[in-house]
Amino acid sequence: MRRIITTLILLVLAITLAGCECADREERIAEAKTRQGLDNSGAEAAPLSVGAQLYRDKTCNTCHGDNGVKPLLPNYPVLAHQGEEYVLKQLREIKSGDSHNGQTAAMKPIIENVTEEEIIILAKFIATELGADKQVGTGIVDPESPGAILFKKRTCWSCHGKDGATPILKKYPRIAGNTKEYALQQMTDIKNGDRANGMDVLGMKGIMHLVNEEEIAHLAEYISTLTRPFIEPSVEETTK
Ligand code: HEC
Ligand code: HEC
Repeated sequence: MRRIITTLILLVLAITLAGCECADREERIAEAKTRQGLDNSGAEAAPLSVGAQLYRDKTCNTCHGDNGVKPLLPNYPVLAHQGEEYVLKQLREIKSGDSHNGQTAAMKPIIENVTEEEIIILAKFIATELGADKQVGTGIVDPESPGAILFKKRTCWSCHGKDGATPILKKYPRIAGNTKEYALQQMTDIKNGDRANGMDVLGMKGIMHLVNEEEIAHLAEYISTLTRPFIEPSVEETTK
């Protein structure tokens, strides 16, 4: 009897250990596959593009969001679907210190560790890949709102496009879909001269004395409702 019980106990123990080892082994195989860039079905997991990898390695995602759509703080800019030439210009100007208004101090130490070559890669990535399948801007546009009326009356459209997403020059920003807090801050800084990088901003400064604080708030609200569509890279190339 005693022998039978001992044998049974040993058997149960052996089965349990075998089970453990089996589960452990499968886990280790899965880990190895992940390390080799294979997913667990054995198919290749898509590797990150050079730009996407840089965007993470340089921690851009921590403030601007993984998809460039939802920034960490509401007064930080939405990057997804922004034009390449404008992004390039901004990155260079934040790095050189020419652009130093608002919250640029938050980004300065980061961009100091990014080379010119990497800036070029990041600008292309932001414009042609980042948040490609995501919506930018709430899309709940009220054409009768005070902001919509001001956008027409104060000729904002003449530089930024009727939809806020088709600027007359490639180096001008696509303003549609920014957060209202960020848009408000930038307009205020351009109006009072705090944002004075480059010559391009001067044209807009001339318009800003025509709008008061309350009107700027209406405009910011309106801008945040406009959608900023993703531009397929090929289309972007042909319209240059
Ligand atoms: C610590 C937070 C932080 C990190 C990290 C960061 N940024 Fe920024 N970035 C900001 C803030 C804040 C602004 C807006 C500054 C202002 O108020 O004018 C900004 C502005 C920008 C702009 C200009 C947007 C516009 O519409 O004018 C671009 C482009 C940009 N960042 C790209 C990047 C890239 C690329 C990286 C990684 C190399 C990065 N940022 C890392 C906080 C950050
Ligand atoms: C004469 C052309 C022009 C007009 C008119 C104009 N803007 Fe601009 N705006 C610009 C340029 C150029 C910039 C970017 C400046 C720079 O290079 O930093 C800008 C920047 C902005 C930004 C900040 C974008 C960002 O991502 O940082 C907002 C918001 C904006 N404009 C809103 C408006 C509104 C609202 C009006 C109308 C009241 C207006 N603009 C009229 C040329 C113009």
